[in-house]
Amino acid sequence: MTHNLKIEPSENCDQVCNLLQNVLYDFIDLSAQAKQAHWTLKGSNFLSLHDFFDTIAETASGHADLIAERIIILGRYPVGTLQACAAQSSLPEYPSNLRDEGEHIKALSIPVSMIAQSARECIDDLEGFSDPVSADILTEVSRSMDMLLWKLSSSR
Ligand SMILES: [Fe+2]
Repeated sequence: MTHNLKIEPSENCDQVCNLLQNVLYDFIDLSAQAKQAHWTLKGSNFLSLHDFFDTIAETASGHADLIAERIIILGRYPVGTLQACAAQSSLPEYPSNLRDEGEHIKALSIPVSMIAQSARECIDDLEGFSDPVSADILTEVSRSMDMLLWKLSSSR
């Protein structure tokens, strides 16, 4: 007996993958933004924040991987080139001249809270599109962004 891999939802696939693609752009952008902070920060908490900002970059990159693979599993084509992300990310450009650790914490809180918000909105949309598996991925992502936001706000 053979089993054909049948992935739902088929009829809402374009809408689902468009939502996932937008989150993918933002996570690739966030990963680069956190690396910028990781490399350039300066301050009395350098050692712990240097590691924490790297954790944010790795977390964002891991979420991007999960989302891109979900898109291809659904039979669509994820786009993750830096050129496409630069053009399509909904996040503001990260300031490239920051050094102070407090300013980096404030600056990174903006994209993290924006993604936390948009991921949460996506969960509702994905449930409306009858794709609980993609909604579950976004729920995981949303929980992780809330955690990062809490850690950022507690570092000030
Ligand atoms: Fe490093």
